[in-house]
Order: sequence, then structure tokens, then C-alpha cells
Amino acid sequence: MKKQIIAASLIAALGLAHTAAQAQSVNVICSAQAEWCSLIATVYAKTTGVKINMSLKGSGEAFAQLNAEKENPKTDVWFGGTGDPHLQAAEQNLTLEYKSSTLPQLQTWAQEQAKQSGYKTVGIYSGPLGFGYNTELLKKKNMPVPQTWEDLTKPIYKGEIQVANPASSGTAYTMIATLVQLMGEDKAFEYMKRLHKNISQYTRSGTGPIKAAARGETTVSISFVHDAPGEAIQGFPVLAITPKDGTGAEIGSMSIVKGAKNLAAAKKFYEWALTPAAQELGAAAKQFQVPSNKAAKVDSHVPDFKKIKFIQYDYAKYGASNERRRLIAKWEKEVNALPR
Ligand code: G6P
Repeated sequence: MKKQIIAASLIAALGLAHTAAQAQSVNVICSAQAEWCSLIATVYAKTTGVKINMSLKGSGEAFAQLNAEKENPKTDVWFGGTGDPHLQAAEQNLTLEYKSSTLPQLQTWAQEQAKQSGYKTVGIYSGPLGFGYNTELLKKKNMPVPQTWEDLTKPIYKGEIQVANPASSGTAYTMIATLVQLMGEDKAFEYMKRLHKNISQYTRSGTGPIKAAARGETTVSISFVHDAPGEAIQGFPVLAITPKDGTGAEIGSMSIVKGAKNLAAAKKFYEWALTPAAQELGAAAKQFQVPSNKAAKVDSHVPDFKKIKFIQYDYAKYGASNERRRLIAKWEKEVNALPR
């Protein structure tokens, strides 16, 4: 009898432990680079005992997934990726209003991102758009380093450039929005049609092109500048520059999903991700964006914003649902559909 009671309470205890373990997990879509996402999962599990079920998705794809699962969300937190689709998710009520007490410790651009979304998203990092290039290939093919957006349309770069597809990639959407703001919409589309002739491939992921440039599979890429040093550190002959005529920057963002099943765990993860220590994991994983927490160390590989000519990127306008949808559809129809 005594044995039976002990066995029963053991089973009950195990059951409880199992439920507790289940509660101790959080489902995160990560739209930053895989190395950073997995370092986050490892460190978070080690320091808090909470398991992160991490799935990797480009910014546009992550947004599409949240939209598809809105009746029955499987995701708790969306970490990283360009800010525009996070703003779109906020506008479409896919994400939850949440005001962290850490907000005042963040850079102004990160706080602005939170404010204009009605506190449904927050900036976690920022980085400029530019061109990546394989130094050895350029030399071998006797090509100059492209200095301006216009340079990329020169016949010498025909078939030598890769950029991502804006439907799946936030990097590529940042390019469209940047060009529209820099040139005006008509000229930007006329420009992208000319650029199209020089593009060898539109990749699914935003970092596909810089990885291809690093490995000598393309000569030039249109990429976030902070994605180049990580490849160079691995020994690949790749560098990046920002166009002289001006460029845009992303505000990498983070949002809690509305209807998240593990809401308490989601909030804990969110708070942790805003701390300096968590944000410094970016550089530890060779990701060199500017962290949004002012107290986080800025690695020496992080691009120096003071040396870059930036446009006044209107995040609210280009993160609005109708605008993002319209520009991507227009790009599909008027640019991507053209023969090369
Ligand atoms: C890379 C960059 C991030 C950026 C992300 C966007 O991971 O390092 O700064 O937010 O790409 O990815 P996507 O595939 O949506 O262009």
C-alpha cells in the first residue's frame, strides 16, 4: 500500500514537472541570421532554463506566417527582421501592445519605432543598406567598385549582381522603399527596370546575395552592410560600401504575437532581449548591427553611421500595409516580370 502511494505521488510529481517543463518554453520566429538565432536559444536555455522553439524565417515570410496563423497563433514572439513588416503586423492587429520598462534605455530610433506602432513592436537593432562585393572577382574581371546606385545599372555589371526578392525579404523591401524615397516613385521604378537587366538572381533570403558574393558565386550584392564583416571574418574576400548618393537603414524589430499561448514566457523573453547582455550576443555571433540598448557595447565591426549619407527614411509610411503591399505587387508586375 505504502509503495503504491509512493508510486502514485511520484507519477503525479513527474506529471507536474512535465507540465512545468511545457510551460517553460517559448515559440520564437527569428528573422535575424541563423548564427545569432541559435546563440540566443542556447544562452537563453542555459541562463533561464526556458527552452526556445526557434523557427527561422525571412521578414516577409514571418509576417505572412503570423497572418496565416492569426486565428490560432503558434508563435509567441517574432524576433528580428526589418521593421517595416513588424509595423504592418502592428497595423493589422497581429501583435500585442506591450510597453517595456526598458524603453527609456533604448536609442531614439528604437523608441520611435515602438511609439509609431502603438507599442506593438520595438527596435532592437539598426543597420544601413549598401553593396557587398567580392574583392578578388572584381579585380579579376577588371571592374570598379560600384559607388552609386546608378553605377549598378552599367553594362559592365550585367549578370554580376544579386539581390533578394522583396516578397520574402525585408532587405529587398528596404531597397525598394529607399529608392522610392531617394528618387521619387516613377524614377525609382524606371531605375529598378534597368537594374533588373544586371541581376543574375533574386534570392529568397536577404543574406543570400552577400553569402554568394563572399563565396564568389556573384560579384556584387545589394545587402545590409553589417552582413559583410561576418563573412570576411570567416576568411572570404568580401567588403561592403554604402552608395554615395544616399541610402536607407532598417530598424530591426521585435513583437509579441497577439493571442500568444505562452504570454508570460513571451514577455520574459522580450524583456531579456532588450538587455545589454542579450544584445551583445549579436556581435558574439558575428552580427554587426547597432544594438538598440544604449548601454550595449558597440563592436568595432559595426558600420560607422556618421560616415554614411542617409535619406530621411519614413518608417511609418513604408511600414504601412497598403504601401508595402502596393510597392511589392508593383515590383512583381513591372520589374520582376520583365525578361532579362
Ligand atoms: C539579415 C540581417 C538583418 C536583417 C535580416 C532581414 O539577417 O543581418 O539585419 O534584419 O537579414 O532578413 P530578410 O531575409 O527578411 O531580408
